[in-house]
This record gives sequence, structure tokens and C-alpha cells, in this order.
Amino acid sequence: MAELEARTRGCAVRWLITGVTGLVGSSCVEALSKRHTLHGLARRPAGGLKGLAGFETCDIADGRRVEEVARVFQPDVILHAAALADVDYCEREPDLAQRVNVEGTRHVAQAADTLGALLVFISTDYVFDGKGSRPYREDDPTGPVNVYGRTKVQAEGVVRRVAERHVIVRSTWLFGAGGSVFMRQVLKEAGEKRPLSYVADKISSPTHAGDLAEAIEELVLLGRTGTVHVTNAGAASWYDFACEILRAAHLENGAGIQRISRRDLRRDALRPAMTALDNSRFKEWTGRALRPWQEAVRASLSAVYR
Ligand SMILES: NC(=O)c1ccc[n+]([C@@H]2O[C@H](COP(=O)([O-])OP(=O)(O)OC[C@H]3O[C@@H](n4cnc5c(N)ncnc54)[C@H](OP(=O)(O)O)[C@@H]3O)[C@@H](O)[C@H]2O)c1
Repeated sequence: MAELEARTRGCAVRWLITGVTGLVGSSCVEALSKRHTLHGLARRPAGGLKGLAGFETCDIADGRRVEEVARVFQPDVILHAAALADVDYCEREPDLAQRVNVEGTRHVAQAADTLGALLVFISTDYVFDGKGSRPYREDDPTGPVNVYGRTKVQAEGVVRRVAERHVIVRSTWLFGAGGSVFMRQVLKEAGEKRPLSYVADKISSPTHAGDLAEAIEELVLLGRTGTVHVTNAGAASWYDFACEILRAAHLENGAGIQRISRRDLRRDALRPAMTALDNSRFKEWTGRALRPWQEAVRASLSAVYR
């Protein structure tokens, strides 16, 4: 980070972060609050979240309220991380997913454009159909297989049309300093000494939300715009991810873990099979790659399991 500050002259920026209470939003607050002025919004109060100079509750489906909050904070950058990100919930509630993920993004993009702020939009590997045999590049055709993915493709289109200055950052399988829902589930199941089984035919790149936050700061300070894939290096199945979590937590039980297919899980939404993302553009833009995902998993769990 010292090197980045030197390269970018350590410019402090006023950020408005939507979805500041979520995994990505709160990880960005943790990573950015020492160097920048941060304001946040979420649908519900932010509780004990530290590092914000200001916070407002705001439903992004309400365009007038979004415009009002943005006008008060006058950000240089709006980091738009608010979304309905629960893939199965989106499948059950497609109208709500459309209102929040597409219309909400339109409101945020309009606010950014009116204020002349840079819009950073967080998108996902689920914009792709998962049928490819190599990691997806930014210009590969999209082909979402579920409601969540379709709303994110539409939202990307809105961002490109409405916000003159924007960065669309696609990432995958995020976990934070305290882990993620999946990590906690794996650790809980291992602790209960039940037979373990994880999906081996769904592949992507587990990514530390703190690493993503630093990468976003870097892209912004370097003045990059366009669409870019940002993940930890390497690819894994849910099975590989679970094995690494257990190794990092010293919970290898030797009992063996079953490999199952994603079709064995009865979920509301279909999942694309192979959605690892190619990070060449990020490397070209910044001169570096994010660390391997295994290292990031160990870093995430090291606070809990030493
Ligand atoms: N998690 C992943 O693995 C992953 C992977 C790739 C991309 N992404 C993308 O990253 C972004 C952030 O995801 P996340 O994992 O941080 O999600 P998250 O933990 O579920 O957090 C979502 C955030 O959005 C807010 N929000 C939801 N509906 C809202 C509304 N109508 N108005 C205002 N705020 C609202 C939530 O606030 P309340 O709690 O107050 O409702 C919360 O702060 C999303 O765009 C997602 O598509 C996530």
C-alpha cells in the first residue's frame, strides 16, 4: 500500500459507499477509512460500523432519496455495492431483484452522473453462462442462467449508458476477514463431525473482500475506467475451497470429504458451472496480480485459528 500511495501521490478522495453494511461495503470501509473520507448508505442502520464520516439509511429503489443523499455528501466517487446478492432469494423474488439491482443501480448511476462523480459498480461472474473452458475475459459474451445474473447484466448496461465515468468491477465468491457464510458453514459442519460433501463441478475464484477493496482503491487512484475482472489468483471448486478452509483451520479430520455435483443440491437458482475470471486486464492496468486464493483463505482465518 505504501508503494501504491507513492505511485498515486496518496490522493484522499470523498467516497459514498452504497451497501456499506454488507460484506463488500464493510470491507471497503475497513480498507479505505484511514486514507479517505467515507460516507455510507444502506437500507437499515449501520449499527457499530466504524470509519464513516457520515451515514444515511436509504432504499436505493427510491430515486429521490438516492439523489438527496448523494447531494448532501457530494462524493468524488460512488462505490455501488448495494444489491440483492442472495442468488436463490432473487430467483424467488424476481420483481424485487429487478427493482433493487436494476432500478436501484439506475438511481445511483444518475446521481453519480449529475454530480460528476466516478461510479464504481460491483458486478459478478454470474453474468456468464459458465459453459466456457477457460477463465472469462471482460469482452466475452454474457449469458446469465438465473435471475440474479440477469439483473446484474442489465445493471451493467445501465451503468454504461447512464454514468459517463464508471468502472465495472466483476468479482467472485467473496469472503471477508471473518470469513463468509460458506466458510462458517464448512467449519460448523466439520465441528459437528458429520459426513462432509461439497460440490466439485462448480468452479470459480474465491476472493478476499479486503484484497478486492484495495484493488478498487488502486483502480480509482490510477484513474482507470471501463470493465475489469478482479479476483484472487487461481481457480477452485467448492470442494477445493472447503478442503482449504479445513486445512487453514487445522480441522482435517481424515474421514474424507465427498465430492458431489451441483445438481445434487436442490437450490431455487441454477448456478453456472465454470466462472473463473481472467485477470490479465487488471494486471495490465496495475502491474500486479492479487495473491493466490489459498493464501487469502489462510489470511482470513488466521485471526481465528493460529
Ligand atoms: N458476495 C459475493 O460472493 C459476491 C460476488 C461477486 C459480486 N458480488 C457483488 O458485490 C456486491 C456486494 O455484495 P455483498 O456480498 O457485500 O452483499 P451483502 O453482504 O448481501 O450486502 C448487501 C448490501 O446492500 C444493501 N442493500 C440491499 N438492498 C438494498 C436497498 N434496497 N437499498 C439500499 N441498500 C440495500 C444491504 O443493506 P441492508 O442490510 O441494510 O439491507 C447491504 O448493505 C453486490 O453487487 C454483489 O452482486 C458479491
